[in-house]
Amino acid sequence: MKFNAPRGTNDILPPETLKWQYIEKKTHELFSNYNYQEIRTPIFEYTELFQRGIGEVTDIVEKEMYTFEDKGNRSITLRPEGTASVIRSFLENKIYGQAQPTKYYYIGPMFRYERPQSGRFRQFHQLGVEAIASNDPALDAEIISLGIRLLQNFGLDNLEVHLNSVGCKDCRPDYVEKLKKYLIENKDQLCDNCKSRIERNPLRVLDCKNKSCKTVINDAPKITNNLCDNCAEHFEDVQNYLDVLDLEYIINPLLVRGLDYYTNTAFEIKDNALGAQDTVFGGGRYNGLAEEIGNRDLPGIGFALGIERLLLSLEAKGIELPVESGVDLYITVIGEKAKIESFKLLDKLRNEGFRTEMDYLDRGVGSQMKSADRMNAEYTIIIGEDELNNNSATIRNMKSGDEKEIQLSNLLEEMKKLVDKEAV
Ligand code: HAM
Repeated sequence: MKFNAPRGTNDILPPETLKWQYIEKKTHELFSNYNYQEIRTPIFEYTELFQRGIGEVTDIVEKEMYTFEDKGNRSITLRPEGTASVIRSFLENKIYGQAQPTKYYYIGPMFRYERPQSGRFRQFHQLGVEAIASNDPALDAEIISLGIRLLQNFGLDNLEVHLNSVGCKDCRPDYVEKLKKYLIENKDQLCDNCKSRIERNPLRVLDCKNKSCKTVINDAPKITNNLCDNCAEHFEDVQNYLDVLDLEYIINPLLVRGLDYYTNTAFEIKDNALGAQDTVFGGGRYNGLAEEIGNRDLPGIGFALGIERLLLSLEAKGIELPVESGVDLYITVIGEKAKIESFKLLDKLRNEGFRTEMDYLDRGVGSQMKSADRMNAEYTIIIGEDELNNNSATIRNMKSGDEKEIQLSNLLEEMKKLVDKEAV
């Protein structure tokens, strides 16, 4: 019998996990600078939350959800994204009663039954932010620049910011009608999928990658020419705030997102080096979402970034994150008596914050030294019966090869001198 991880999922193994820890640590630090606080919602929710929140006629809800009935006959879905859950939690816990806006962030796994390929998985990880209860366009700019800054912190630059406004419930219906009319007139040139979308969700046609559809789409009426005064003003203000931050963007009136809750600002940050799945992060405003799932008129804006895509983007550009696995000291032991004493020392050193390791396979000195090397040990020390009797041993700097005779009873003090404890 042989088991494999389910298709579209990944084991994240060491030393790769160090990169994940580094990304998470940097995220916690940066997001807290912007005063976003961490929220943790359940991995699964009642299915209806996503049906109503994300929209019935979206790829996610129609085709990609991991939905099952639990033993109490409730329909449950593994979360395909974080926004609907965050708003559900905000409403359920009556956070709207507190000082606003509320600024949350989250990091965790999401699940979508998609066709796996590079940068697209069935279990993937997002880090996301949501700023709730303010319609201030400065927040839109803050959210976009926060995402960009996070990527810059990892060494990623030259990413394209695509920006659009998808209007609101007042101006969008008119635009959708115009678009529908145009698409019907050009139906012959559309793919079957788009033909079926004309009635059900015409905005999604704008996202089609089919060559013939693209020609039709390029000449389609633009939503940015059909915004009501409020939306047009909001969109302009967002751009002004982005200009204040010197953040470059490309206005892309064809940008529509795969989730139906968006209103006004919509954006995607793309890395051309990524190939087909080139969006590192995307997001936008969702001023109607709280109304849709909780009958409360509350604006919100956020983004989510795929951690796997971020890692691919770093890899494509040859950027190494500054992570290193290793131990400060590897104790090479010879004989049972030395092992017991070393085990005691090991415990003492670890308790003082030193990364310390020894042999657990009763190997010879040569093999133990090889292990130390593989572990990137900074120092090694060999302890045998003679060393114990003399209370002295040689500590070796593995990089420089320098050796130093020390009193074994002083090992802890010596390590404190040798290893920069700040860096431990
Ligand atoms: P989304 O565009 O569906 O938006 O996903 C956001 C990001 O998650 C994508 O840009 C991509 O990096 C990553 N992603 C999505 N699907 C996959 C997949 N199958 N495999 C790997 N990575 C993937 C949302 O999820 C919204 N909740 C974002 C948001 C937050 N809008 C407002 N607030």
